[in-house]
Amino acid sequence: MLTIQDKENLIRMAKEARELAYAPYSRYRVGAAVLTADGQVYTGSNVENAAYPSSLCAERVAIFKAVSEGHRKLDAVAVVTKNGGSPCGGCRQVMREFGGTELLILIADETGALLEEFTLEQLLPRSFGPDELVL
Ligand code: THU
Repeated sequence: MLTIQDKENLIRMAKEARELAYAPYSRYRVGAAVLTADGQVYTGSNVENAAYPSSLCAERVAIFKAVSEGHRKLDAVAVVTKNGGSPCGGCRQVMREFGGTELLILIADETGALLEEFTLEQLLPRSFGPDELVL
């Protein structure tokens, strides 16, 4: 269970990460911060590429940083955009892998105001996850 302070901290870190977005093509800057089950925070921004499909979303940058440092269980993700945009489908599926259906997703705008919060189950109902592949 995250406290108000935990949520504010995660949003603040996502907002700071957004400052480092590399988004010269879309000009839509995104910042993300993930809280791991053992209390660490990893941040990410979107990183675009002249070959557009080689770009990566902020959420996945943050999640892959956490996982590649050994943190495979996530409790919450904060996403900051200009207008309170919601995570894309690909990012929701990656969240499903490491967060599970109870993962908390905080949506904030560029001022850091928390606009909405969801569980992953709300954003990705009836999802396909790791358990399906137990053979
Ligand atoms: N983007 C994200 O970083 N996260 C999302 O969930 C949605 C989209 C980025 C990708 C691209 O760099 C820009 O926003 C416009 O789509």
